[in-house]
This record gives sequence, structure tokens and C-alpha cells, in this order.
Amino acid sequence: MGTVVPSKRQLAWAFDLNKCIGCQTCSVACKVLWPGDDPGTEQMWWMTVNTQPGRGTPRDWESMGGGYDADDKLQLGRIATEEEIGGGWNFNYDEVLHSGRGRDVHLEKVSGSKSWGMNWDEDEGAGSFPNAYFFYLPRLCNHCTQPACLEACPNDAIFKHADTGLVLRDEEKCKGAQMCRRACPYKKIYFNKMRNVSQHCIGCFPRIEQGVAPACVRQCPGRAAFVGFLDDAGSIVHKLVSKWKVALPLHPEFGTHPNVYYVPPLSPAPLHEDGSFNAAGQRIPPDYLEKLFGSDVHGALDVLRSELDKKRRGQDSDVMDALILYRWKDALGHLTRDPAEIVWK
Ligand code: SF4
Ligand code: SF4
Ligand code: SF4
Ligand code: F3S
Repeated sequence: MGTVVPSKRQLAWAFDLNKCIGCQTCSVACKVLWPGDDPGTEQMWWMTVNTQPGRGTPRDWESMGGGYDADDKLQLGRIATEEEIGGGWNFNYDEVLHSGRGRDVHLEKVSGSKSWGMNWDEDEGAGSFPNAYFFYLPRLCNHCTQPACLEACPNDAIFKHADTGLVLRDEEKCKGAQMCRRACPYKKIYFNKMRNVSQHCIGCFPRIEQGVAPACVRQCPGRAAFVGFLDDAGSIVHKLVSKWKVALPLHPEFGTHPNVYYVPPLSPAPLHEDGSFNAAGQRIPPDYLEKLFGSDVHGALDVLRSELDKKRRGQDSDVMDALILYRWKDALGHLTRDPAEIVWK
């Protein structure tokens, strides 16, 4: 079993769920840059963006177990099946683009999962008209402070990088035991059958080493993603998490102390049957948000609402200014270097 050696510093991510537009630029940027679609990596989406409420990716991952119990004892859950992970698909591009059959032929899936894939239930959400609701949830490995995956590995293949806190895998040591996959409660580890190793988000480590922000953050057109060291008082991530306490970890009860944080979604007041507003209500049920982010979500939403009111009244709000992100590079913490400057080896 692996032993967690705490890191000197911890890199963390934050996502503003009020601004994420579900465009999948982050997930595609990651997929293209890292796992690609070599044999063995087809199903790997280290970054996923799903519609909430929804069953997520892998399907129903929240009930697969793992993490730590209330006594801090490691829990081994189960591994998601290939069908539960689902995707990707191949389409009949050749037929559509090159067969010369014009409008007689349409784009169709020709192979791949029949019942699930990344963001399969896109934009379905919950509630009923006129009070239906949904929001998007970007997810990557949480680079946890107490990574269950690390502790579960019988070959000591997973470690916390001392200078960044990233949770990385030594592929020379990995023997494909997959206990890490059972133990990760976020189900963020994939198995590469062709190489007999597990793989997960590497935190864009080669970019971090060069002072370049992770692709999923740098490419985000919604200006919804932030990165930075948790102890860097100048980083927006630090301020959102520690100073203003408006960014919260997902499922803190899993016990791994995740380092990806979320600014919870505000929502409009629901409508009564006669079309009038129920001013005291919120369209996204607070209980649902508590299920995702724990009881601190209510305080975070109160702060967000009060800062939003300040802004509406024309007063200053550092919280809203940070979330609006007037200068996109402010999202990158110390990782502001332009990747185009670097000759990658
Ligand atoms: Fe490990 Fe899962 Fe935490 Fe990532 S999210 S560090 S894979 S336990
Ligand atoms: Fe992918 Fe890098 Fe983002 Fe991890 S940090 S999800 S490797 S783009
Ligand atoms: Fe959301 Fe940004 Fe990802 Fe688009 S790139 S899905 S806005 S986090
Ligand atoms: Fe260890 Fe997971 Fe590899 S348990 S041996 S890192 S597949």
C-alpha cells in the first residue's frame, strides 16, 4: 500500500459554475494534448464536463464507492465498466463527405457504446417547465491531499509531487493492479489495456514545470476556470477558496480532500403556476447543491448573492470582479507563460 507524503505546496483548480457554458473546450483540449486516441486510450477523457443533475461520466459514478469512511479508513469501491464509461464513437465521415451521395446520406454513429458516453445526458437536467434547471460540472482528477488511489496501490506507483502536490503515476512501477481505480471515489482513473497501466490527468505537469497553465484552464472561453497555488495569496484560487470561501470541493464527504473547487451556481427564483415569481425560492434546489458540495454551500451562495447585490447597486465587489475576470490571464495564477514561446522536446 502506498504512503501519502504531503507536498510542500498544493496546486488547485477552481471553476465558476455560473460561467461554465458547457462548451467542452477544456475536455477536447485535454484529450487532444494528452491521451489522444491511440489504441488503449479511446475511452480516456481526463477532463469531462457533464450536465447536472445527471448520471455523470462514468454513468452513476457517485455511487461506485471508494475514498475514506468517517474513521479515515480506506474504502475500495468498484471499477466502472467499459459500458458505464461509454464513448467514443466512430462516425460515417467517409460516406458523408466523400461518397458523392449528397443529401441521401446523413452522419451516423457506426461503432462505439450504444448506451453511454461523455455528457450523454447533455442539457437534460431536472425540474419541469417552467422551472426546469441544469448547470455544467467540469471534472478532472482532484489531485487530492489524501489520495485514496495512492494509498490503494500495492506497487507504490502513485505519488504526490513534492513541489506542486500533483498526484502522478510512475508508469515503470505500475503493474496494472487497478486498485487505484477502485479506491478513487471520483472514478477519474482509466485503464490502458494495450499498455497494462492505469492513466489519469497529469495536471499538465510538463506545462506547469515551464510556467504554463494547464490546457483546460488556459483554453476556457467562458473565463470560468482558474488555477493557482492554494498558498499564493495573489492567486484568485486562493482568494476564492480561503479568503472569500465561495469555492468548495465536490463531495467533501468522500474524505480525500480534493483540490478542485467550485463556485456553486446561483439560480433565478422559480415561478408559481400563475407565472408570478416565488421570490423566496431558488430554482436549483439548495438540498441538491448541498448533496454535491456539503453544507458550506449555503454560506457560499449567501456571499455570492450579497456581492452580486453590491455590484448591482454600483458598489465595489472584489469577489465579483475576480469572477468576472476582466483580464483573462489573472485566472492563471503564477502560470502566465505563453506556451508558444517554448520549444517542447
Ligand atoms: Fe486519486 Fe481520484 Fe483523488 Fe485523483 S481524484 S487524486 S485519482 S483519489
Ligand atoms: Fe487534462 Fe491538463 Fe486539465 Fe489534467 S490539467 S485535465 S491533463 S488539460
Ligand atoms: Fe466550461 Fe470552460 Fe470547460 Fe467550456 S472550457 S466547458 S466554459 S470550463
Ligand atoms: Fe497501482 Fe493502479 Fe497501477 S493500483 S499498479 S497504479 S493500476
